Parts: sequence; structure tokens; C-alpha cells
Amino acid sequence: MELPKHVAIIMDGNGRWAKERNRSRIEGHKEGIKTVKRIIEAAIENKIPYLTLFAFSSENWNRPEEEVTGLMQLLNQFLKNEAKTLEKHEVSLKTIGRIHELPKENYRAIQELVEATTDHNALTLTVALNYSSKNEIVDAVRSIVNQSLKNELDANKINYSTIAKNLETKELPDPDLIIRTSGEYRLSNFLLLQSAYAEIYISPIYWPDFNKHHFDTALEQYALRERRYGALK
Ligand code: IPE
Ligand code: IPE
Ligand code: MG
Repeated sequence: MELPKHVAIIMDGNGRWAKERNRSRIEGHKEGIKTVKRIIEAAIENKIPYLTLFAFSSENWNRPEEEVTGLMQLLNQFLKNEAKTLEKHEVSLKTIGRIHELPKENYRAIQELVEATTDHNALTLTVALNYSSKNEIVDAVRSIVNQSLKNELDANKINYSTIAKNLETKELPDPDLIIRTSGEYRLSNFLLLQSAYAEIYISPIYWPDFNKHHFDTALEQYALRERRYGALK
């Protein structure tokens, strides 16, 4: 079976999962963390080298303060609790997004764990935090313009590869498969350029209920796709 090298997931539906059970949105996010653990395991079991998880978008700051604070606390707990697992399974943690704008505690915990896991090579786990694909492109343009002003590059020679090298994903292959849970059919500002030729799989399942079986189904569906890249087969 043809496996994707890079799977990127828009983890969605925590709030609705909680609402259906008359529980708080934060409880939905707590349950969602269990899914994160399961899916990291599933990626390792399937020998997928790159897994990227959309955990917090730059637009998610617009949610009620209580929810944002709760999410940041859960993120810190996750980083603390999972350090050993990342070590054991040789997972290398990376981030994309403006993480310097996160609360200091989160920022420090992330930096530490990224550093501690940098030599691992079973799975590259990239967590998108305070991530906006549009902002990422803005940052890349700024950086390219600055390089050009310093005569480090010739503006006439800029091509897509120049842009790709200035994106935060420069060390990652483009995603082959994007999974979005909870039945929403949109990308919500996630990896817009990088997913130009990604296969998209929408699952109706809310993220807290998404399990290894659902993940395997997504992989099976991916294997059935014919990727043509504009050419003919
Ligand atoms: C995804 O679940 C988690 C984050 C965006 C942080 P949601 O919180 O978006 O859940 P719904 O979409 O409201 O159900
Ligand atoms: C996208 O989900 C962001 C994450 C999964 C972190 P949202 O729930 O924020 O997206 P919209 O608002 O439904 O587009
Ligand atoms: Mg949502």
C-alpha cells in the first residue's frame, strides 16, 4: 500500500463533541489530547516519517479568554507528560507558527522539548501553534525582500523554491495527505501553499472520537487516490 510520507491533520470538533455531551469546551480539548497521543502512536506504527498537527491557529486567539487560557494550560501539560514518550519513540518535535507570541511558559517548554528531541529520527512531529498560512507567507516575503536589499539574492531569480526555502516548513516535504475531522470542508488557513497537490480526506468524526481505525481508513483512502499533478496517467 502506498503510504503518505507526510500527513497533516486539522484536528477539529472538540467543542461540538463536548457540547453534545453537555460538557465544557475545555473538556472536549482534554479528550482531544488523548486522540493526539493515539494518532502519534498510529503514525509511528505505520512508519509515517512526518506528522503535522494543527493545534492552534492565529485566529483562535479570538475565542473567549477562558478557552484560550485552558488550551495553553493543556498544551503545557501535554509537553510535560509526553517528554518521555517522545524520547522513547525517537520522535523529534518541531513547531510552525509564531510561537514567540505564546505565553512565556509555553514558549519555554516548547523550546526545551524541541531542543531535547532534535536528534530523534523515527518521526518528525510538527505542531502548528499560533499558525496562519497567510502570516507565514508574509514573513517569507519580508525575509526575501530583506535578503534582496542586502544583495544576498537577485529579485529576478526568485522562483517557488526561493519561497519554499523561506517558509517555516522549509525542512519538511509538502504534505501528501491532509486529514480534517468533524466534517468541515475547508483548510482554515493551514499550509495553503504546501498543500497545492495534497490529497484531502475529510472525516465526519469529531477529533476526540477519532481513533487508529479511522486513521488507517484515511491511509487506505489515500492509497486509492491517483495523483496526477496536472499530467496524464
Ligand atoms: C479543534 O476543535 C481544536 C482547536 C481549534 C483548538 P474546536 O475547538 O474547533 O471544536 P469545534 O469546531 O468548535 O467543534
Ligand atoms: C482550525 O479549526 C484550527 C485548528 C484545528 C487548530 P477551527 O475550528 O479554528 O476552524 P474554523 O473556524 O472552523 O474554520
Ligand atoms: Mg473548530
